[in-house]
Amino acid sequence: MSELSRFGVSVEDELLQSFDQLIAGQGYANRSEALRDLMRDALVKSKVEESAETGEVLGSLTLVYDHHANDLTEKMNNLQHDFHNFIVSVLHVHISHDDCMEVIVLRGQAPEVRTLADALLSLKGVKHGRLFVTLPTRKIVEHKHSHS
Ligand code: NI
Repeated sequence: MSELSRFGVSVEDELLQSFDQLIAGQGYANRSEALRDLMRDALVKSKVEESAETGEVLGSLTLVYDHHANDLTEKMNNLQHDFHNFIVSVLHVHISHDDCMEVIVLRGQAPEVRTLADALLSLKGVKHGRLFVTLPTRKIVEHKHSHS
């Protein structure tokens, strides 16, 4: 672990109280850890946007769909085979008589990961879904260098 720095932050009482309530509800033991998570999240978000053109990302795509819907499962299957190089793992859960949930772990260049996610999310019969994108761990905290 790298060295820790301390810094002071000025903030309105009301904002701080609301923040403390929020993070207590989320289970944070202290402000520092909550603030570190917010900082990491902001950095990842910014770097993911930077990687929009190139750069490796990791993603988890969650899809909820009705497996009876027309030729949906066949289309999903074909897409996943077309992009098999980017798919690390697939978790399938039968959540009810009609509905399935699939969590697809993706790893690859940002544009391909997004293309596959968009193609799957936009299929007719997919009821709900979202792509979560993050970066390989070392990139989350490394210094910005490519555009300086
Ligand atoms: Ni199923």
